[in-house]
Formats: sequence, structure tokens, C-alpha cells
Amino acid sequence: MPEVNKNIKDVGTGFASFLSPPGPEVIRFTVGQPDFDTPEAIVQSAKDSLDRGETTYTRTQGSEELCSSVSNHLKIHDISIPSEDIVVAPGCKQAVLYAMMATLDPGDEVLLLAPAWPSYDGMLKMIGAVPIHVPVNRENYHPDFKALEKAVTDKTKAILVNSPNNPTGAVYEPKEVEMLVEFAKKNDLWIIDDMIYATLVWEDYGYTSPSIFEGGKERTITVGGWSKGWAMTGWRLGWIGGPSKVMDAVKKVNASAATHVATFLMPAAITALTLENETKEMADSFRERRDVIHRLLDALPGVSVPKPEGAFYALCDITETGMDDVQFATRALKEAQVQLIPGSLMQGGEGLVRISYATSMENIEEGVKRLQTWLSDL
Ligand SMILES: Cc1ncc(COP(=O)(O)O)c(C=O)c1O
Repeated sequence: MPEVNKNIKDVGTGFASFLSPPGPEVIRFTVGQPDFDTPEAIVQSAKDSLDRGETTYTRTQGSEELCSSVSNHLKIHDISIPSEDIVVAPGCKQAVLYAMMATLDPGDEVLLLAPAWPSYDGMLKMIGAVPIHVPVNRENYHPDFKALEKAVTDKTKAILVNSPNNPTGAVYEPKEVEMLVEFAKKNDLWIIDDMIYATLVWEDYGYTSPSIFEGGKERTITVGGWSKGWAMTGWRLGWIGGPSKVMDAVKKVNASAATHVATFLMPAAITALTLENETKEMADSFRERRDVIHRLLDALPGVSVPKPEGAFYALCDITETGMDDVQFATRALKEAQVQLIPGSLMQGGEGLVRISYATSMENIEEGVKRLQTWLSDL
């Protein structure tokens, strides 16, 4: 029998083993998606498009109106990418893959700030590139520039930046993003900037794009999407934009691999980018939950957690409990009926557990109370 692609054997399955839906008695702190319905106006827009019969092939990079809506939306974050250099992809995840396929050759090394969202590692291995996990500072999960410098070799071709970050909840300060750009310039790297959580920031300084700093624009590929800020995870819509040279390659990849996203979703994606109140309400609600969960988690015996600055994750250091993170997560599920993600599913996440607070305030209070009782009785 022929063999399967040898690159695939090293590709992990991410959080899958700890994501299986438990019984209703379990509080789930595992699911990384907003607990809101997609706003009604967006849903209606997709229905209207279907009613108009918009079900045929269309422009591969996304309709002109959609690409120009994305280009305008990015201006809110001071990102300037003309609509010709925007491609709408089936999810930010696929946009990340496009960025990698367009910029990397087999054997190229890519710096990931560890612990990193596991899909980056899997995608890089899939295309024969090499993920290099560089630990962030343990006390605040911000970049460790000395460690980054040490990790550079003559094969390093790119750095992946994700701020607000999954799984750490960190949001990098403008000065740090500027330093990342300086670092990329010095070492001649592409910057793949995953801004999927850009609208969910709890610090005054907000999300900062590497493209705003001198020399950043020409080496930054920006990827993002509708999943998190607009409660549209199942719609599979994301964007990618950057220098024309890269986007010409991305357009080829997209045309070969996907043709385009569903035609009748395009008007809905445009509608989404016009909504302000709904997205703000969702973001405000996550911020409130952040305040509560951080206060409660910080009081748990043996647990310490830097204040989450964005997205909807709290990454807790549980080493003082004497358990490793897999034991902690396994026992929390069995003995406290609380499901969470052990950090060692990601390289550099040993001793940490990820808690998603995209769940109701009741669940947050009850779930942390259960952890409190369980840990106090140990
Ligand atoms: C950092 C990061 N990037 C991208 C994605 C994927 O987004 P999408 O649903 O648009 O593919 C996720 C989803 O969890 C994520 O955490």
C-alpha cells in the first residue's frame, strides 16, 4: 500500500482530546468561541442573499464590496491595505495557512511565541516548514526578546504574532510590537499577524498592528476574521491582506484551494462590519467576565494567573498545586466536574491550564467555586 504524506504524521490534534462534550453536570471552560448567537442582521443578510439566488461562483478573492469593507474595517486599527490586496478565506485558520504557503519554503523555520495556538504548529509541519517554539515571559506572557534573538538561525524566515493571544490572554504593548518589527527587520523576517481577537482588548492601549511601524508594512501579512468578535465561528469567514507580492501568491493559493467563500455569505460579512453596538455589547460582556474570573481564580490555592488583557482566556499556573497540568485537568474533570485545557498540549505550556471564560457568569462562579472546594480538600 502507498504511504500517506509523511509530513502529516507529526501534526497534532490540538485540544481535541480535552474538548469532547462531557455530561450536562460538567462546567466547560474549554470552548474557545463566543456564547452569543450571531447578530440577527447578519443572519438576515445571508437569508436575503439566498432569496436573491446568489448561489453561483463569483470573484475568487471575495466580492469587490466585501474586500473594500474589509479594507475599510482595517483602517479602524490603522492598517492600510487596499482592497485589491485583500482576500476573503474560509476562516482565519485557512488565512493563516495561506500566509504560510505564500511565504515559506520547506525547511524554513518560523518563530512561535510559546505556548502558541496549536494549529500554527500543525500547519507549519503540514507544509514542511519548522515551528520553533520560543517561550514568552512566564510572569506576564509577553515576548521575551532575548529568547527570540537566541532562537534565530539562518533558516528563520518568519515570526507569528497573535495579540490578543490564545491561549495566554496577553495583549502586547505598542512598544513591544514595535520591538517585534525591529527584530523582524534586523533578521529579515516576514511577520504573520493573527489579529482574530483584535476587538476583544481590555487594556487602554488596544490591539497594535506591526504594519503601523516603520518598515513593518512591507513585511506584515495581516490575518483575521469574523469568528470571535462577531460570534460567527461556524460561518467560516476570515481575511488576509498584505504586500501585493505576497497577496498575488495568496490569490493563486486561494483560487486553487477554495475558489472563494460561499457567495451568499459575502453580503452578511459586509453587514457584520457595519455593526457597532452588537459587537461592543459582546466585548463589554467578556470584559466584565474577565474581571470576575480573574478575581476568583487568583484566590484559588496553588494557582496564579496574570490578569488577562484580551480575548477570552485566562492561563493559570498550577505548578504550586503539586500536580502537572494533565493531572490537574484530568482530576478537575473527574473530581470537580470542571473541564479545562492542559497547557502541555502546546509546547511551552507545561504547568499551565487554559480557562476560556466565554461562558455564562453563573458558570464562571459555579465552576471556580467547584475548583476552590476541590483544591481546598486535597
Ligand atoms: C489565535 C487564533 N487564530 C485563528 C483562529 C481561527 O479562527 P477562524 O474560526 O476564523 O478560523 C482561532 C480560533 O480559535 C484562534 O484562536
